[in-house]
Amino acid sequence: MTNNKNLTWHDYTITKKQRRNQNGHKSFILWFTGLSGSGKSTLANATAKALFTREIRNYVLDGDNIRFGLNKNLGFSEEDRKENIRRIGEVSKLFVDSGQIVLTAFISPFQKDKNQVRQLVEQKEFVEVYVKCPLAECEKGDPKGLYQKARNGKIKNFTGIDSLYEEPINPELVIETNRYSVEECVVQVITYLEKAQLI
Ligand code: ADX
Repeated sequence: MTNNKNLTWHDYTITKKQRRNQNGHKSFILWFTGLSGSGKSTLANATAKALFTREIRNYVLDGDNIRFGLNKNLGFSEEDRKENIRRIGEVSKLFVDSGQIVLTAFISPFQKDKNQVRQLVEQKEFVEVYVKCPLAECEKGDPKGLYQKARNGKIKNFTGIDSLYEEPINPELVIETNRYSVEECVVQVITYLEKAQLI
């Protein structure tokens, strides 16, 4: 823990409200959670494209990519996943402050960690999207061959195999990626955002 008694918070000159006004839209976190291979990254990227086309400023933070850089010192123990999500929560909050929509694609298996991110921002600034796909389907796809490695004991603590995935309790949205095409899933997300008057 940092000792922050010698630190002083400086308010920024340009506010979140001013940034939103300039962009002409709201800013919030679109938090995609689900098993590895459930389609989080695909859906986040396709939704980002749909938003971009509408000239809505947005950015994707993706689990695999972030673990190449910012979070390259983290593994997959419970503690490391918790820290992974905490950092992404803080980074996402900065994006919200910058007036953009941030789409995050992380397994984020533990409800408590996601709840903490929700607490970090204001109400309506956190939209939890459960990317729901049965384990058997994720495993069947297995584009990275990770499930097979996990089954063979070559990877430990793999989510859904020997590490827990807690199903989201009260997500704003559930998208069943094994039942609908990517395009249909994007429509479901965009329709929700329109109805909730977020875009
Ligand atoms: S999280 O649990 O901390 O939210 P995150 O989304 O960042 O996970 O990273 C998950 C990705 O890391 C998976 O899509 C997969 O490609 C890779 N990975 C490697 N090892 C594991 C593991 N033990 N459990 C889950 N995913 C793993």
